Amino acid sequence: MGRNYQLFSFRLAILAILPFVRSVLGGSSLAQKPQMGWNSWNAFKATVNYTIVQDVMERFDTLGLKEAGYEYVLLDDGWASYNRTSDGYLQANATSFPKGIEALAEEVHAKGLKLGLYGDSGHYTCAWRPGSWGYEERDAQTFAGWGVDYLKYDNCGGFQSMTEAPQIRFGAMKNALALSGRDIFYSVCGWGYQFPWHWGGDIGHSYRMSGDITTSFTNETECQCKTAYCLNTGYAGCSVLTIINKMKEISKYQTQGHWLDMDMLEVGNANFTLYQQQTHFAFWAALKSPLIIGADLSKLSNDSLAVLTNKAIISINQDALGEPVMYKEAHSKEGLFQVWAGNVEGGYVVLLLNEKSYPQTVSLSFASLGLGSPQKVVELWSGKTLQDANSFNGTLGSYQTLVFRVQT
Ligand code: GAL
Repeated sequence: MGRNYQLFSFRLAILAILPFVRSVLGGSSLAQKPQMGWNSWNAFKATVNYTIVQDVMERFDTLGLKEAGYEYVLLDDGWASYNRTSDGYLQANATSFPKGIEALAEEVHAKGLKLGLYGDSGHYTCAWRPGSWGYEERDAQTFAGWGVDYLKYDNCGGFQSMTEAPQIRFGAMKNALALSGRDIFYSVCGWGYQFPWHWGGDIGHSYRMSGDITTSFTNETECQCKTAYCLNTGYAGCSVLTIINKMKEISKYQTQGHWLDMDMLEVGNANFTLYQQQTHFAFWAALKSPLIIGADLSKLSNDSLAVLTNKAIISINQDALGEPVMYKEAHSKEGLFQVWAGNVEGGYVVLLLNEKSYPQTVSLSFASLGLGSPQKVVELWSGKTLQDANSFNGTLGSYQTLVFRVQT
């Protein structure tokens, strides 16, 4: 019994330190697929509170979101108090989260879900809560101690943030999380500054490639950077179509375990048509962006819910190969329609987008994409198999995207 017990304790001890060893060595089982969840910012801004989060957890079950694969409940800016404790620790806003974060994490875990918090790499968050600059290790320990599973780490910060390179600021928290003893998903939110697709993969499990998404599909009143390699100097928002267009230049940098993050979804928030919502979701899925719902779940229409829980589209996002679609310039017509394609298990996927506000008739030969010879083609939104597996010829509605899963 003594020896068995010793062996048993030894195994337990090994199991307990595994996440720590793994994270210090840099190998984590997190992020093998793009993360899926819900985030409070797009719908609630800094007013997130316990009641909202409870409602979200309920609806993860009742709306079938958990079943569809959404697992993270993410509290964005506003969860924290404006002040640290007198001895310098982060604390929740006592009015919005009276029971605190540790108790909330227990509730979230009891529902089989995971909890995420938001922080900032400067002195302040964008909503003027305390940032973690100079407090990285202490804050990472706090998050780990509370049982937090995910950290979204922002780029605001008032002053210090812009005087230190993002690699330093975001790297400091990466190291602090690795020492925290808990495997915490690290979502870098640097708005595409200094082109993180060239360095962010060494730091975060995912990293934002643009300023904030807006509730606009095409219109750019604020978007300062309409291409990926523009020198962004703020988090000024861009439309869904612009974010898709920016990915033309950089989807090739998408790699398993370090996902380019196109920002939280606006499906269900904005006044988008069904086709616009499908286009938004299809591109985020096929470009292997994290799928983070940004809507008020209590107001979700049936159409929006159907888009967000479409199993066939989600399976493209969560595909084992982890490969993004690439823009096929030779098959597209600049400003009129776009063709994107990439490998998935058992074949490839093709997205055909009508970029115009009016219907267009388009033809496309699948074999000419050079990804293999098509045996069977299913359009995923309609679930219909094409009669002719070699080509498509048909009319797309305004801003509609057809998604073809091609079996080879
Ligand atoms: C922005 C960030 C948004 C949201 C907001 C909160 O910098 O890009 O996604 O987190 O801050 O203040």
